[in-house]
Amino acid sequence: MEGKGLRLENITKRYGTLTAVDHLTLTVPSGIVFGLLGPNGAGKTTTLEIVEGLRRPDEGHIWWEDIDIVHHPEQGRSRFGVQLQTSAFFELLTVKETLELFHSFYHRHLNVAQLISRLDLKEKQNARVEGLSGGQRQRLALAVALVNDPEVVFLDEPSAGLDPQARRNLWDVILGLKAEGRTVVLTTHYMEEAEFLADRLAIIDRGRVLDEGSPRELIQRHMPAAVIEMSRTVGITASTPLPAAREIEERDETTMIISDRLEDTLVGLVNWAQDQGREITGLSTRSATLEDVFLKLTGRSLRE
Ligand SMILES: Nc1ncnc2c1ncn2[C@@H]1O[C@H](COP(=O)(O)OP(=O)(O)OP(=O)(O)O)[C@@H](O)[C@H]1O
Ligand SMILES: [Mg+2]
Repeated sequence: MEGKGLRLENITKRYGTLTAVDHLTLTVPSGIVFGLLGPNGAGKTTTLEIVEGLRRPDEGHIWWEDIDIVHHPEQGRSRFGVQLQTSAFFELLTVKETLELFHSFYHRHLNVAQLISRLDLKEKQNARVEGLSGGQRQRLALAVALVNDPEVVFLDEPSAGLDPQARRNLWDVILGLKAEGRTVVLTTHYMEEAEFLADRLAIIDRGRVLDEGSPRELIQRHMPAAVIEMSRTVGITASTPLPAAREIEERDETTMIISDRLEDTLVGLVNWAQDQGREITGLSTRSATLEDVFLKLTGRSLRE
């Protein structure tokens, strides 16, 4: 069988009385970018480290295609590339020496000079690791993650600490990895990044999957099409008949209408106001975002 991807089944990891990962089940189809979203302490890093073979789960199974990763972590290591949330390198080696060192560990590998230019590290290739900026270090960590020509690349907050330009470049690199047929699993705290990069997402909290799907699916499932807000003095109440209005809430100075079809509700609103001789003031509309979904599911915002 082909295209089975990466499967995690009932993965559990306890630290004393804390259950960091709690019967987590996930399927990542091969060849996509998969995002893990969750607040601090949700269990993202622990989950990645278990898949990468750096920690043993207390319970559960993991497969990549036909390989049982929990029982054969060495087979995972030769196929996986890993960028840790915090990477330790030999500070006195140069960028190029570091990549050559990791290159020598593997039978299968990518060309070091090409990796250096791909990650935009040419200017720094002869600089010692100790002198790199945070963003340069991140890029070196990604280059190291790719050195064994991996089938699956795990990136734990790859854009943390990058400036906007470097983040854009990173996104290009990640889409390039997908275009080459690799599978990418990443964690992020940036909604725009998740929406832009991820074909599928899992929202996790307290070691459990709260929901999973494409960014669009998640928004459609959990959030209405649009939110309309206006001044409360307009006079709309919960009993005002408006088309496609799922909910009408009065809050302090504002009336909020949750609408399934923005245009229908707006047209209805304007007609109602004309009939009643009311003026519509303070009107604004916005569409729901992944951030709204995240807040609804976890009760927390992404960045604390
Ligand atoms: N080695 C450890 N010993 C004890 N507790 C741990 C250990 N590693 C992680 N934890 C705990 O497990 C939980 C999950 O941590 P984890 O690092 O997986 O979260 P995360 O989702 O990656 O968070 P962040 O967004 O902050 O990186 C946290 O409560 C953390 O304190
Ligand atoms: Mg983490």
